[in-house]
Amino acid sequence: MKKNKISKNWIYRQKTDIYVRKSKIEGYRSRAVYKLKELDEKFQLTKNISSAIDLGAAPGSWSQYLSRKIPKGKILSIDLLEFQKIEKVHILKGDFTDIKNQNEIADFFKSKVDLIVSDMAVNTTGNKNLDSIVTGELCQEAMNFAINHLGKKGFFVSKLFMGSSFNEIVANGKNYFKELKVFKPSSSRKESKESFIICKNIK
Ligand SMILES: C[S@@+](CC[C@H](N)C(=O)[O-])C[C@H]1O[C@@H](n2cnc3c(N)ncnc32)[C@H](O)[C@@H]1O
Repeated sequence: MKKNKISKNWIYRQKTDIYVRKSKIEGYRSRAVYKLKELDEKFQLTKNISSAIDLGAAPGSWSQYLSRKIPKGKILSIDLLEFQKIEKVHILKGDFTDIKNQNEIADFFKSKVDLIVSDMAVNTTGNKNLDSIVTGELCQEAMNFAINHLGKKGFFVSKLFMGSSFNEIVANGKNYFKELKVFKPSSSRKESKESFIICKNIK
């Protein structure tokens, strides 16, 4: 498909997408918020929690959601990109895979965290296998961090693309967590290869 046609299709889809319209009405920066909302409603991620980390947070709709759900909680968000402030959220600009940033996150909390969510993804190339591998590496990095910094009963939730690295990451998750589920929210576009892993209770 030509580039022009793709962007026309994108504009049309944005205009008619129910989640785009809903996010505007509800004051969220992105339709992506409805994926986290659905995950939360299904798995009770934010029930009785007081701390959360949002990895790959820009433009910030997941962080907005978390700050509304746990207004008295301690929340930190990180992204490569700069994004607008969110009340009660500590924002870090940088690469999560950089150990300096991971140490800064750990220093900020000083104790184990209740919830770690990752929507990190690089710009997709169209090559499904490559996209799966790159996003899989980010997910694995986030999982390694979660294993060390999540409380025993904490949740780790991450975006993952179907493809060659999917099974390996799910298998790794099962080694470290007592429970692991895979779920694709209905607000995730059907044509997208994304899914989410929900990991609970570190072994
Ligand atoms: C799909 S967007 C996140 C949308 C966000 N959940 C929201 O609700 O607004 C994915 C984000 O991951 C970020 N990202 C990708 N690699 C990253 C890395 N190594 N460290 C931090 N952020 C990263 C990208 O900059 C991008 O903003």
